[in-house]
Amino acid sequence: MKELALRGVIYSPIADPFFNAPEDCVVYESDGLIWIRDGRIQAIGDYNAIRAQLPDEIDIRHYPDSILLPGFIDAHIHYPQVEIIGSYGTQLLEWLNKYTFPTEAKFNDPAHANRIAEFFIAELQRNGTTAASVFCTSAPGSVDAIFEAAQAENMLLLAGKMMMDSYAPADILDTAQASYDDSKALIERWHKRGRCLYTVTPRFALTSSPRQLELAGVLMREYADVRLQSHISENRAEVARAAELYPQRENYTDVYDHYGLLDPRAIYGHAIHLSEGELRRFHETGAKIAHCPTSNFFIGSGLFDIARTRDPARPVTVGLGTDVGGGTSFSMLQTMSEAYKMAQLRGISVTTAQSYFLATLGSAQALGIDDRVGKLQPGYAADIGVLDPRATPLLALRSDVAESIDELLFALMICADDRAIEATYVAGERAHKRDSCG
Ligand code: GUN
Ligand code: ZN
Repeated sequence: MKELALRGVIYSPIADPFFNAPEDCVVYESDGLIWIRDGRIQAIGDYNAIRAQLPDEIDIRHYPDSILLPGFIDAHIHYPQVEIIGSYGTQLLEWLNKYTFPTEAKFNDPAHANRIAEFFIAELQRNGTTAASVFCTSAPGSVDAIFEAAQAENMLLLAGKMMMDSYAPADILDTAQASYDDSKALIERWHKRGRCLYTVTPRFALTSSPRQLELAGVLMREYADVRLQSHISENRAEVARAAELYPQRENYTDVYDHYGLLDPRAIYGHAIHLSEGELRRFHETGAKIAHCPTSNFFIGSGLFDIARTRDPARPVTVGLGTDVGGGTSFSMLQTMSEAYKMAQLRGISVTTAQSYFLATLGSAQALGIDDRVGKLQPGYAADIGVLDPRATPLLALRSDVAESIDELLFALMICADDRAIEATYVAGERAHKRDSCG
């Protein structure tokens, strides 16, 4: 049995602040203690109250003034795209052809896949991200590489082989049948092994034949608890092309719906240009959305409407994703900052509690993992980020005048990034320590 305890300020979302009173949505302790046993939270609360329950000799790591949060959860990210982050110009369809497809072809080489997978997992940890839903490439070896790298660190990772049999260069295309067979073999090999969860991953309607989408639906019916991830309605030219390719379908959402891919286990990236009827269908089916603001700004895709998507009359569950390499940062703090600015452009000021919720428990709900991660409470995994409000001279100056935890956390999400992640704990083990070489 392995035990330790973390002492510091505790802040954890526990309920959805889009629909509940703010005071019911967060747990806060100005001097708190988290007791961890065998990778899980055993108890959490006020320092003095919890300390009294613990053995005298327990290892207590004290982070004075730093904030202990649930590890961030990235609801949408592409590990094969790290080398093309920040590539100049172009909008979605040209960006895919010019940068994305060539870099993804490099993952036909397992050595390249292993090297980038290890880099990627370490970079998540450096940013305080402890779980992610990850797109691989069409090469099955790219899935083995990322699950192996995640498993070595005991990370909760959702990932899947990109299914894409049309309209891309031959070296990254599969066929409908091969994508089904390969996905099936990968599910058998990886799903629920350690903390790995398999995610059926048709790239999007533009690179899949009808038969491939049909087979993705078959996989979802054959395996009751695998997830599904894809893209929808990110860019107007993409929406027009989907209509050309699938003229019998009422709209883009109906393409996926027709093949049984709108499901409570499914999460779609972007969803910027959906009609009212399409959002209603998301609500009815329980399908989820990953909001990826840094990517939407960078590729020039449009302004996601968070208030409309979360309309209490027909709410859709939304998680927050970086979408690296279309997205421009691994930092979920920076992603929250850009989500805030995007909503501002629509006249909505997302609250601090809503922002931290989206990056933790909201993403956990969107990925169907909120029974084990996303908040700090007994029985949940000890996946924890330690946020240092004095990480840089500017942050220290700003933090010193903050009059509440809300004000402090807001300034941090706007101004901070990976420099403020002092440590990251994955299942109770310290996986990242700032200022160390490893
Ligand atoms: N739509 C289909 N594939 C992709 C991708 O790799 N990135 C983004 N941002 N959108 C996509
Ligand atoms: Zn994406």
